[in-house]
Amino acid sequence: MTILVTGGAGYIGSHCVRALAAAGYDCVVYDNLSSGHREAVYGFPLVAGDLSDVKKLKATLSDLKIGGVVHFAAHSLVAESVADPLKYYENNIGGTVSLLAAMRTCGVDKIVFSSSAAVYGAPGRTPITEAAPAKPVNPYGETKLAIERLLRAADTAYGMKSVALRYFNAAGAAPDGNIGEAHAVETHLVPLVLREARTNGGSLKVFGGDYPTPDGSAVRDYVHVLDLADAHVLALQYLINGGKSGCFNLGTGSGASVLEIIQAARDVTGADIAYELAGRRAGDPAVLVAGADKAKRVLGWRPSRSGLFTMIRDAYRWHSRHPDGFGK
Ligand code: UFG
Repeated sequence: MTILVTGGAGYIGSHCVRALAAAGYDCVVYDNLSSGHREAVYGFPLVAGDLSDVKKLKATLSDLKIGGVVHFAAHSLVAESVADPLKYYENNIGGTVSLLAAMRTCGVDKIVFSSSAAVYGAPGRTPITEAAPAKPVNPYGETKLAIERLLRAADTAYGMKSVALRYFNAAGAAPDGNIGEAHAVETHLVPLVLREARTNGGSLKVFGGDYPTPDGSAVRDYVHVLDLADAHVLALQYLINGGKSGCFNLGTGSGASVLEIIQAARDVTGADIAYELAGRRAGDPAVLVAGADKAKRVLGWRPSRSGLFTMIRDAYRWHSRHPDGFGK
């Protein structure tokens, strides 16, 4: 079966393409390369196109006899979504509307969607199960939730089956060091900690030392990007086997604080990794840890590379070999 991977030139998408191929699927990447990288999909066919181009989407789906879609293409920076919500609503929601319209016309009725723990906002309880109320606190999370709702409605109306995968914090890279995380402006913790390990630039900040957590820094549930990729393959197989539409958290169920990440990076790299304690970043909850039993129970997902040391070692290999991302 041939699978269309929208956003397959991005960080999680490019790892998923490899996992799908390893599981025996043919993959075609559909990406406008606005933040994805052509180099991340070497060896796989790439259609350079925008989700707003319904004509191109329809031609791709029908000409290439696509059997299912894995949908990553989206803007994904929380702070940017606050600064420019129209950009997020237009691209993320508008793009998905185009995609579903094209799928409906072409009779493609299975989609795995890249959602986010951002749909929960700042939940009162942890671990967060799928039954927790969805109350996003920024436009990025709002667009992910709106798309999940659209997918449910598309199932009721057109029989389109979907799985929404709510990722917690993606980290790590392919162990061969050839693909990994590469954002034009980096805001994520693990790449910034590893940049500090490589450069001693003195610019690493820990946002908040006064959270109600054991060491005062914020706690997140970090998952290896390869484990996330595996979950997409399982979700697709689940839909092909007649599974019903649903949403699933992807996390390990155990959290790591910002300071624990820094310590793990010291252990991996041997570098000192200096940091400065700064104020809390607006909108950051203290603790986000997944209750991820549902993905294990229903999809048979078993994250196997999400130990901190393995994740950071794999990320470090990628960043060391590609200090400028895919640029050079
Ligand atoms: N942090 C620092 N210093 C930095 C960068 C981050 O202390 O320089 C802290 C943050 O304050 C946060 C933690 O490290 O407590 C993780 O921050 P990231 O930016 O790496 O990730 P987030 O938890 O903010 O964001 C992730 C995903 C988003 C998603 C969000 C909520 O990247 O896509 O979780 O689910 F929306």
